[in-house]
Amino acid sequence: MKNQAGGVDRPVAIPFKFQQLGTLPIRITLTFISLALLLTLIVTPLPPSTFQLFFTRQLIDHHQSFDSLRNSTKVGSLNSSQKSVAERPKENESCDLFSGEWVPNPEAPYYTNESCYIIPDQVNCMRFGRPDSDYLRWKWKPDGEDCNLPIFDPHQFLELMRGKSIAFVGDSVGGNHMHSLICLLSRVVYPEFISPNKNGRDRPADEHWVYKDYNFHISKFWAPFLVRSEISDPSDPGSPFRIYIDECDQYWISKIERYSYIIISASQWFFKRTLVYENKTLTGCAVCDQQQTNVAKLDFYLTYAKAFQTAFKAINGLKDFKGVTFLRTILTPHYEGGAWNEGGNCVRIEPFKRKETSLEYLVSEMHRIQVKELRVAQEEGQKTGLRFRLFNATHPMSLRPDGHPSKYGHPRHQTEITFNDCLHWCLPGPLDTLNDFLLELLRREVVGRSS
Ligand SMILES: *[C@@H]1O[C@H](CO)[C@@H](O)[C@H](O)[C@H]1NC(C)=O
Ligand SMILES: *[C@@H]1O[C@H](CO)[C@@H](O)[C@H](O)[C@H]1NC(C)=O
Ligand SMILES: *[C@@H]1O[C@H](CO)[C@@H](O)[C@H](O)[C@H]1NC(C)=O
Ligand SMILES: *[C@@H]1O[C@H](CO)[C@@H](O)[C@H](O)[C@H]1NC(C)=O
Ligand SMILES: *[C@@H]1O[C@H](CO)[C@@H](O)[C@H](O)[C@H]1NC(C)=O
Ligand SMILES: *[C@@H]1O[C@H](CO)[C@@H](O)[C@H](O)[C@H]1NC(C)=O
Repeated sequence: MKNQAGGVDRPVAIPFKFQQLGTLPIRITLTFISLALLLTLIVTPLPPSTFQLFFTRQLIDHHQSFDSLRNSTKVGSLNSSQKSVAERPKENESCDLFSGEWVPNPEAPYYTNESCYIIPDQVNCMRFGRPDSDYLRWKWKPDGEDCNLPIFDPHQFLELMRGKSIAFVGDSVGGNHMHSLICLLSRVVYPEFISPNKNGRDRPADEHWVYKDYNFHISKFWAPFLVRSEISDPSDPGSPFRIYIDECDQYWISKIERYSYIIISASQWFFKRTLVYENKTLTGCAVCDQQQTNVAKLDFYLTYAKAFQTAFKAINGLKDFKGVTFLRTILTPHYEGGAWNEGGNCVRIEPFKRKETSLEYLVSEMHRIQVKELRVAQEEGQKTGLRFRLFNATHPMSLRPDGHPSKYGHPRHQTEITFNDCLHWCLPGPLDTLNDFLLELLRREVVGRSS
């Protein structure tokens, strides 16, 4: 990536050219650099007290109305549920789960804004009046006659995860994925929310949940760069981030050893303006602005690669970690008609067919880097005995321009919608399918290894 942000004072759009095919004479402009500001607005951690107050209040409000709501909403039937994990039809393991297409699924959704009380307003599209609902009714069909991805079964999932734990490490889309999981499981049971700030040692954007009956824990660790990072001017959310590219973020890596599964994801924050440090020395900027004339311009992709190298190395260096690490690959935003701050929006109401779109160079390059660094970690894992797995979600989700909140979501603390969110995902919505994948990937780890 050339230094598109250089020389100008405001975010600059990187044009995303989607193939123009058949009946789809469109040109989609996605803007990654500009997303940096959007992310700052909606996901910058708030001071602990504010956040906790807000979050707790939201939960309590929901709790009170929860019982009466619980049975009132019709959601997809829960039939295969009593089957044990072993009885789950053995999926053809030679299938590439992630290459396929979206097909209609009239049974979905499997929860609603009324049946799941933990959906953040930011992605609660039903609650804020999104008028269409067809985007809820699709499932993923992997290629191959014998290849199927079963719909998420909460009973099976909970049985499989008895005594285990999952940590989502990364940015807000990882949290989005976690909330989808909790909502899908809410048809069986709700977890208890453990305050993230009890001892003041947690980051305010973290969440910890426990399913006591199953001794199953889910956590989210806020680490948008994976490596150590800090904002250069805490009073200015738009100021560049310092990222220490060869130092894993001690915050999550020091807590991760006790988890059975880690799901790592990181992408959008790398489009923020950065000051990159290596060996504790400023080496340059990967995304630069005009004030940064006195520092070298670094290769964006190399910086991105190094962050993953550092994170995976740190995991391979953990003494007591026995878990499995999944790399959930980059998900693309779907702005059309301009950047998020130029009126860009995502108004489609159905998925793309695979031939209607293709990954932009920037995304496919970042995906390639992720996979490459995962392979390196896997090789190293042969020595350390650790497993690293690919959660190759990029392609399926790139086909879902219809899955974003657009204006039907409310950012924390903002009552007015000032921009369209085409980056996060409506819940319920296509992101739920990530948990269809997750259950199958976990099943392959658990059942696959014991048989
Ligand atoms: C909801 O359904 C469960 C059984 O499925 C029942 O035990 C419970 O009393 C119901 N709650 C309400 C508020 O109707
Ligand atoms: C669900 O289970 C019930 C009874 O176990 C059965 O009668 C019904 O046909 C099942 N529905 C589906 C969609 O499998
Ligand atoms: C990831 O998914 C894409 C799209 O389906 C596919 O082309 C690619 O081969 C997959 N990568 C790996 C390493 O399986
Ligand atoms: C759920 O969404 C509907 C609109 O689709 C709204 O009327 C209702 O108040 C919402 N319920 C909750 C609990 O947010
Ligand atoms: C698994 O799927 C592949 C691709 O569809 C197919 O060629 C193969 O025969 C299947 N194997 C089994 C055991 O079903
Ligand atoms: C890191 O910097 C120190 C001095 O600050 C230097 O002695 C050391 O050789 C450097 N290490 C690497 C790997 O560059």
